[in-house]
Amino acid sequence: NLTEAVDSICKKFSITDEQLKSISSEYIRLTKLGLNHNGEAMAMIPSYVTATPSGRETGTFLAVDLGGTNFRVCSIHLNGDNTYDLLQTKTVIPRNLMVGTSKELFSFLAQKVKDFIATHLSEKFDEDATDHQLKLGFTFSFPVSQTAINRGTLLRWTKGFDVKDAVGQDVCLLLQDELDALNLNVHVAALVNDTVGTLMSRSYTSPGHHTTIMGIIIGTGTNCAYVENLDAITKLGEEKISNLRKNSPMMIINTEWGSFDNQCVSIGSTDYDEQVDKKTPNKGMQLFEKRISGMFLGEILRVILADLCSQKLLFKSSSSELETEWKLDTSALSRIEADFSKNLIATRLLIEKELALESTLEERKAIKTIVEAIGKRSAYLAGAVVAGILEHTKAFEKHGIIDVGMDGSVIEFYPGYESLIREALSAIIGQTKESRVQIGIAKDGSGVGAALCAVVA
Ligand code: BG6
Ligand code: GLC
Repeated sequence: NLTEAVDSICKKFSITDEQLKSISSEYIRLTKLGLNHNGEAMAMIPSYVTATPSGRETGTFLAVDLGGTNFRVCSIHLNGDNTYDLLQTKTVIPRNLMVGTSKELFSFLAQKVKDFIATHLSEKFDEDATDHQLKLGFTFSFPVSQTAINRGTLLRWTKGFDVKDAVGQDVCLLLQDELDALNLNVHVAALVNDTVGTLMSRSYTSPGHHTTIMGIIIGTGTNCAYVENLDAITKLGEEKISNLRKNSPMMIINTEWGSFDNQCVSIGSTDYDEQVDKKTPNKGMQLFEKRISGMFLGEILRVILADLCSQKLLFKSSSSELETEWKLDTSALSRIEADFSKNLIATRLLIEKELALESTLEERKAIKTIVEAIGKRSAYLAGAVVAGILEHTKAFEKHGIIDVGMDGSVIEFYPGYESLIREALSAIIGQTKESRVQIGIAKDGSGVGAALCAVVA
């Protein structure tokens, strides 16, 4: 019956304290592997950002931000007192550009920069701002093998993007060429991952001036950047390390944790995860991300509901909506989690609207229980690897309060997500240490972070 089926699904999604600890240890092992060797799935990419900001940096910069869902163009004025002024425009990236050619994608981006300058820069900034060459920070939220602060070749696409001819190309040059073609006096000065940007912007504004050691995105995709000792990044080679050490003993690493444990040794796997993975252009990759982030949670839920329906345990009959891939997005789970009405009215309306199905109260309770299991697994997995980084970096020996910056639609909007991360952290490192971790949202931070990297550059 339905109750038994739901119990068995929830068991598949639950993670015990023992498992949390083993995920955390496996994460530390793969961290070391990625720092020592090139070509590992969890890429541990050196960012060439070797300082975090003090909050006193000043200047006006442009930034563009290609995330998973939106493209943003911003101008940022750093005030030098831990605050900034931000002006931004946001465009949803058209689906056809996500799977077209690099020319189409990058000329679209350059055109948006041109529009932004024409509309906003002349009125908002000094007269001469448009005469001087503007420095631009480029937030590019995909795995890039970086060779310098403004050089990097695309390793592979994630989050449903599949612009084949861009793989292996330098994405800074692709953007610069298109900006030049429009005669814009703009120089791409820094290339940063959104997690690096989030870490930088959170450092700039961190309350209490506690040291920020991680920037985490849990949105369409998920990933983390953290502050690493240069000496630990042995894959850079002795010579490079000793040259870089002259300026700084540290470097920010973009972990690309979305591809942590693609073998599913510690993170586990359900038949539902496998069904979702099969539909993606990067099958077998980013399996950690596919259990955590916003692009996937809705589809995991839909696949489960469709399965229960086909077993005649849920809903009177199916609907074409229920059978439509990617029909549900993560906001559906957020709304069901947040439904505390006696008869689960919000859930009923959502199922009617999104799936064109009638439901009984018993069915809605079952769905809510499944949603909670999917959401909790997501946050627990994230918590487990945060614990891994805290231990790997010996953060508790070095700092009193440890600051972590986060951004993305899941951490921002999913009810209770941070508390669940904390529950997992607490189970692994103990409550005393967990209480020394300060988590803060660095909203829209990665554009600001890219500007800060342009300052460094
Ligand atoms: C935004 C950042 O705030 O969050 C982007 O500026 C980042 O760089 C994004 O990619 C992640 O959130 P989502 O939910 O849009 O993927
Ligand atoms: C994906 C990308 C990564 C990015 C993350 C969050 O995992 O590969 O580069 O940081 O999504 O946007």
